Amino acid sequence: MAGIVETEAWKALRDHHEEMRGVLMRDLFADDPDRFDRFSLQLPGFLLDYSKNRITSETMEKLADLACVADLEAWRDKMFAGERINGTENRAAFHVALRDRSGGSLEVGGKDVMVDVRGVLDKMRAFTVSVRGGIWKGATGKAVTDVVNIGIGGSDLGPAAVAQALKPYWKDGIDLHFVSNVDATQIEETLAGLDPETTLFIVVSKTFTTQETLANAETARHWLTDRLGKGAVAKHFAAVSTNEREVRMFGIDTANMFSIWDWVGGRFSVWSAVGLSVALAVGIEAFEEFLAGGYEMDRHFREAPLTENMPVVLGLLGVWYRNFFGAPAHAVLPYDQSLARFPAHLQQLDMESNGKSVDRKGGAVAMETAPVIFGEPGTNGQHSFHQLLHQGTGMVPCDVILPANSHNPVSGHHEMLAANAFAQTEALMRGRTEEEAQAAMEGRGLADRIIEKLLPHRSFAGNRPSNTLLLHRLTPRTLGMLLALYEHKIFVQGVIWGVNSFDQWGVELGKQLAGDILPELTGDQPSERHDSSTNGLINAFKSLRESR
Ligand code: F6P
Repeated sequence: MAGIVETEAWKALRDHHEEMRGVLMRDLFADDPDRFDRFSLQLPGFLLDYSKNRITSETMEKLADLACVADLEAWRDKMFAGERINGTENRAAFHVALRDRSGGSLEVGGKDVMVDVRGVLDKMRAFTVSVRGGIWKGATGKAVTDVVNIGIGGSDLGPAAVAQALKPYWKDGIDLHFVSNVDATQIEETLAGLDPETTLFIVVSKTFTTQETLANAETARHWLTDRLGKGAVAKHFAAVSTNEREVRMFGIDTANMFSIWDWVGGRFSVWSAVGLSVALAVGIEAFEEFLAGGYEMDRHFREAPLTENMPVVLGLLGVWYRNFFGAPAHAVLPYDQSLARFPAHLQQLDMESNGKSVDRKGGAVAMETAPVIFGEPGTNGQHSFHQLLHQGTGMVPCDVILPANSHNPVSGHHEMLAANAFAQTEALMRGRTEEEAQAAMEGRGLADRIIEKLLPHRSFAGNRPSNTLLLHRLTPRTLGMLLALYEHKIFVQGVIWGVNSFDQWGVELGKQLAGDILPELTGDQPSERHDSSTNGLINAFKSLRESR
């Protein structure tokens, strides 16, 4: 295949963009009363409205043509077949196996991985029942009341975001804590509130070599053994990893180790034993419901035609804006406080997957790839960065996520929240013309000279795209659907852009250099081997340090 930007499908979209760039969504809505029906999709308890986009049916057809040219369906099938689509690491990207509920076998390299997947799930079930039921006792005979997940990146953000989203489902008796940053403030502040006799640490690291995680685990172990003695580790530490040897060397009893496999990418791993902390908080049944939600979205992704396929539609819309309108960023705006960490998880998921400038074959990509992903829960974002979404110079497409039912139905709050969500997408789409702004100010009795002065500031161009995901309620199941939807959306975009969405070589250089610099921070010799900025900063840091 020629580079995708050389294909007829890409060129057709470029020409189509020329036609569409001046088209106003408010006119498209005025001309077509069925626009919402035409451009929305539904699964049980889960609605995607993508009608507030700068598209027509022709746009979606042309985008679907592009997906065909990129062999999207073939790549999707390879992923679901456990093929080694992560070429630079020669691995499958088979997180879908973790949530497969078909009861069948799924193979990687001729081996049925479902035997191990079900085995670990069974082990998680037994462990969860034991810890939650107080059968598991700490070194002094007390039941666990607090679980601390120590991990970073996918070993933290996935479980942290999911645990927070499922807080209404937490069962009594166990509180969860997450420690990721190597900044000791986080672990010190966490430990300060804990009782070693009733605390269980889960060290989550696929590789078990991650500097930050091992430093935090080491500090936790000191804290525990200083108070309860060395023998306490076996009853207060569990691990989730691929690396049994390192787990054992750290001193964790491998009977308390939960396996993951090289075909589980870190940022896709919350569906595995990496989600153990979540299962401990909500119980294994709710965790399995979360898996079932993911599986439901997987089936939709595999079976629905391209133009009726939620992950495909979202992925293609992202390509439309990133590559044809030049949108540099994408906002994820959950109108649900429980989803407060969801944008942070999506940042890793999207930017670590598709933040690439080299294609699968090692050549330079010929187009922009991942946008900057950011977001905050509504309505907080409205009083912060939404100004730029409405009147900034660039276009920032948005996803608004809203459950119809709140877990905290306190009089009027949820209606206010929903009204704000709908108002934002309407305002982004419609904007406000000068005539409308003028009429509004006249209605308020403002003097003509004030109106004239304020008019440019109080009119909005609008025509800014958004998708709305409306859930019946945020449950383990709909959360599973939501997360799998974004995973597949990112996959779709990676296929169009021709990048490997499953490696992350870009984080390696920083890790290596940090390892090189660390010993220089304690030596007496001034640093001279770097550029003048890095030398200057290291030396200034050392001179500013007080004796420790
Ligand atoms: O930041 C790079 C990364 O490899 C992520 O992809 C991963 O989620 C994180 O580090 C943690 O890795 P590990 O689980 O091996 O500690």
